[in-house]
Amino acid sequence: MLDEWLSYGLRLFHLIAGIMWIGTSFYFVWLDFSFEPLPQGEGAEKKEGVEGETYMVHGGFFYRVEKQKPTKLPPNLHWFKYEALLTYVSGFLLLLLVYWTGGGMALMGPTRIPLSHPHVAYAISLGSLIGAWVIYDLLWKFVGKAQPTIALVISLALLVGAIFGYCSVFPGRAAFIHTGAMIGTIMICNVWMRILPAQRRMIAKRLAGEEPDWAEGAAAKQRSLHNSYVTIPVLFTMISNHFSFAFDHRLNWAILCGLTVIGASVRHLMITIERKQTAWWAFAPASLGFAMVVFVTWPAPPPEVTGPPVSFAEANQIIMDRCWQCHSSHPTDDVFHSPPNGVVFETPTAIASYAPRIRFRACESRSMPLGNRTNMTDEERDTLQRWIDQGARLD
Ligand code: HEC
Repeated sequence: MLDEWLSYGLRLFHLIAGIMWIGTSFYFVWLDFSFEPLPQGEGAEKKEGVEGETYMVHGGFFYRVEKQKPTKLPPNLHWFKYEALLTYVSGFLLLLLVYWTGGGMALMGPTRIPLSHPHVAYAISLGSLIGAWVIYDLLWKFVGKAQPTIALVISLALLVGAIFGYCSVFPGRAAFIHTGAMIGTIMICNVWMRILPAQRRMIAKRLAGEEPDWAEGAAAKQRSLHNSYVTIPVLFTMISNHFSFAFDHRLNWAILCGLTVIGASVRHLMITIERKQTAWWAFAPASLGFAMVVFVTWPAPPPEVTGPPVSFAEANQIIMDRCWQCHSSHPTDDVFHSPPNGVVFETPTAIASYAPRIRFRACESRSMPLGNRTNMTDEERDTLQRWIDQGARLD
C-alpha cells in the first residue's frame, strides 16, 4: 500500500513543481514582451538603467515591474531555478518507480525490436537520457552558434529518430514517457548547466563594470527558446499514459511526431500573440498535425469474423486466467496491489463495456497482459477477439 501512496504523492509533487516551472517560464516570456519604454519629455521620471516598465493588477493593487540593466546587486534577488530542478527530480523518481520496479516488465513487450533482458531495457532507459543531452549539447555548442538552421534540422531529425527508436524497443506507454523524459533532461541541463551559469557570469561582468560576453548570452537565449518550444510536446507525453489509443497504436511514433508538431506550433502562436505579431501561418502545421493524428487513429471497419461462435463463458475464463492477476478488486500480482487504471473485469457488464479496449490491448497491440506476465497464448487472443467481433454477447 505504501508504494501506491508514494506513487500518488510523487505524481502530485511532480505536477505541482511542473506547474510552477512552466508557469514562471510562460510568465517571463509574456513579461519580456509587455514592457513599454518609460515616458519621455517634460516632468517625466528619469531612471538610470531602466529599459521599460509594465503594470499588472492583482488583489486590488497595481504591481509595477521595471526591466533594468544590472548595475548593483539587489539585496533580495530571486532566481527561479528550483521549480525546474524539483520537477526533474520528481519526474526521474517517478520514472524509476513506474518503469524500473517490477522487474522492468513495463519496459518489455511485443515491440519491433524486443529486448532480451530487463537490464538491456534499463541501460537504454538511462543511457538514452544521458546520451541525448550530450549529443544535443555538442551539436548546439559547435554547430548551433554559427549555423542555427543546420543544427535545428539535425535536432529535429534526431528527435524523430529518438521517438521512432523508443517506440521500436519499448511498449508505447514507456516509449512516450521516455520521449518526455529525454526532452525534460535536455531542458533541465539547459537551465542548470547553460542558462543559469551564463546569466551569472554576465551579471558578474556587468557589476564589475566590464562588457559581458554577448555571444554567451545569445547562446543561453537559444537554449531558453528551445525549452520554451518543447514545453507543450513534453506535456503531451506527460499525460499520454491515460490515452492508450495513442501510445499503443501501431503508428504510435508518427502520432507522437504529430503531437510534437501541434505542441510547438501552438507555443509559437502563443509567443507571437504575446509579441503582438500573431503568426497565423502556425495554424497550418497545428491543424495538419491534428488531422494526421485523427486520421491515423480513426478506427478501422469491423473485420470479417470467421470461426465458430465463442460463448461468454469461454471468453470469461480466458480473462479470469490471464487478466485477473491485475484487473480484479484484489489483484494477486506482486507488483500491482490495486487494479491498474481502476480497470476490473469481474462482472459480465464490466467486461462487455471494456470489450473494444480489451480487443485493442490484448488482441491487436498485444500490450496486455503487461509483459505477458500471465503467459497468454495466441490462440486465447484469437478466441477473445472472435468473441468481441461476434458482438461480445453475454449469453
Ligand atoms: C501484470 C499486470 C497486468 C495484467 C495481467 C493485465 N494488465 Fe491490463 N493493465 C495493466 C496496467 C499496469 C495498466 C495501466 C497501464 C497501461 O494502460 O498500459 C493496464 C491497463 C489496462 C487497460 C486500460 C487502459 C486502456 O487501454 O483502456 C485495459 C483495457 C487492460 N489493461 C486490459 C487487459 C486485459 C484484457 C488483460 C488480460 C488479457 C490485462 N489487461 C492483463 C496491467 C496488467
